[in-house]
Amino acid sequence: MKALLVVNEFLFTNKFSELATWILEAAKKRDIDMKLVTNAEILAVMGANENRFVDDEKPDFVLFWDKDIRLCRYLEALGIPVFNSAKAIEICDDKSKTHLALFEAKIPMPETILAPMTYPNIGYSNYNFLEQVEHSLGFPMVVKECFGSFGAQVYLVHNKEELLSKVKEIGTKPMLFQKFIKSSAGKDVRIQVVGEKVVTAMYRYSVNGDFRANITNGGHMKAYKPNEWETELAIRCVKAIGLDFAGVDLLFDEKGRAIVCEVNSNAHFKNIYDCTGVNAADCMIDYILGKVMT
Ligand SMILES: Nc1ncnc2c1ncn2[C@@H]1O[C@H](COP(=O)(O)OP(=O)(O)O)[C@@H](O)[C@H]1O
Ligand SMILES: [Mg+2]
Repeated sequence: MKALLVVNEFLFTNKFSELATWILEAAKKRDIDMKLVTNAEILAVMGANENRFVDDEKPDFVLFWDKDIRLCRYLEALGIPVFNSAKAIEICDDKSKTHLALFEAKIPMPETILAPMTYPNIGYSNYNFLEQVEHSLGFPMVVKECFGSFGAQVYLVHNKEELLSKVKEIGTKPMLFQKFIKSSAGKDVRIQVVGEKVVTAMYRYSVNGDFRANITNGGHMKAYKPNEWETELAIRCVKAIGLDFAGVDLLFDEKGRAIVCEVNSNAHFKNIYDCTGVNAADCMIDYILGKVMT
């Protein structure tokens, strides 16, 4: 069986190349001839009367480990099974779309308000909408850019001035406002789901006073056994978004009950391996094999 692993040409740091190596090794264990290509090596070529892949080169599946949703959709249009799907990656990449999909599926989340969209050449000519936001969420509140990861585009603002200056700083990029879940400050749970199964989970906690528990942000981790509610919640998220595999981040409300923080289509699985010994790459490859062989 032949397969492609697509990664991003321009975001190929050690962290990413290590994950790619793990995926390639997982494929090799299952006798899959998987090749690594970047999104700058296979371009989406349309309107030309040619076969994109000469027949014997056409992969049996693509593991799409990137967010280049245009290329992803193009590969799907060629009739190749692609994991995750372009649609699911698109929903996860944009936190506002994730929350809309979770909302449609009635999945519990922190109170979340989407900033009104404006045009890059216009910006916000007034900030009156922030009054509604402040009235509903109070301070401190969480501001998130819709596109971001590793906690780097997630901010805590404590008053009107900080809110306004953060919104001005983000400018015309899409953003959302969220109730700060104080009971979960500096702690969350990452649940790794493959197919309709939770394969492993970890509890992440910050020790430096940061409200974000991301490991990249200095968070610590330990293996975690999700309860039935948490397991079901993570699987419901994956189904609602149409993902094949994902890392689901959960927060804990004041009653200790889990609610959904965000869903990651390309969840890094090295940290969770280090703390639980579960290799998500093996699970993903076995899952994909099950899908393409039937
Ligand atoms: N509403 C919230 N209340 C409390 N903590 C939050 C909230 N939203 C996010 N966090 C913390 O910030 C971290 C990063 O937020 P997240 O939405 O997962 O963004 P990223 O995609 O950058 O990981 C979370 O793992 C969690 O620890
Ligand atoms: Mg996260």
